[in-house]
Amino acid sequence: MRSERALAAAADLSLARAGGLPLAHFRPEHVSDQVARACAREGAGDAGSLARMLARDPVARTRFRRSVAISYGAMFRDPEQFRLLEQVLLPRLLEDGRRLAAWSAGCADGSELYTLGIVLERMGALERALLLGSDLLEENIAAARAGRYEGHDISPEVRERVRWERRDIVDDGPPAGRWRLVMCRNVAIYLGPAARRRLYEALVSALATRGVLLLGRSERLLDAASLGLRPVAPHAYERVH
Ligand SMILES: C[S@@+](CC[C@H](N)C(=O)[O-])C[C@H]1O[C@@H](n2cnc3c(N)ncnc32)[C@H](O)[C@@H]1O
Repeated sequence: MRSERALAAAADLSLARAGGLPLAHFRPEHVSDQVARACAREGAGDAGSLARMLARDPVARTRFRRSVAISYGAMFRDPEQFRLLEQVLLPRLLEDGRRLAAWSAGCADGSELYTLGIVLERMGALERALLLGSDLLEENIAAARAGRYEGHDISPEVRERVRWERRDIVDDGPPAGRWRLVMCRNVAIYLGPAARRRLYEALVSALATRGVLLLGRSERLLDAASLGLRPVAPHAYERVH
């Protein structure tokens, strides 16, 4: 049993190296599921041969990286959350007339941040917004920069507002600045408990006082108060001090 565990750990290490991914951040069950899928997809017999394949095939490597990180996003994904933003959260954040700094943490292909830009444009508040998207994967940042989504035209004004950066929020922490809206939807669910805690602490430290953190539709904080947050709407929390 011990040698099986050692073998699995060695395979994880060589996969992490070959994939250039912080596999230890993710839930172990998520990693083994994704490794099994990648073995089937790439025709690799086991994790060791998958690691060797990823080291020599950049296309398979990108497929592996994007699938482990679940690099999925969509315009107006979970529309009720954008209705909540447009009707409740953004009017509150904008009422003092100040600039709105908003950060999409784990932005995948950028669709979440572009959707926010479209909503702000509709509300006549785009000019006073600063919009940043960060993601673990350079490949996702490249897709976000390109910003092409079937059935959706992104206006030049929205494109001009958005900025992108590669960042591992768990290891590198948040970007500089105080953010009045942080959207971190469908990122924490794939992380193990220690990485998830570090992620939440980074998000909270980036929030301005009274700033809002919006999580995904299936995510909620059981320990909001210990992070200095209070719930203000479904899956939305405000920084208290
Ligand atoms: C399922 S997507 C979520 C996209 C978008 N937020 C949404 O809900 O539509 C999860 C994203 O989180 C990113 N991610 C995972 N761990 C991360 C980390 N430590 N730092 C930054 N981004 C991370 C992944 O690369 C992936 O693009």
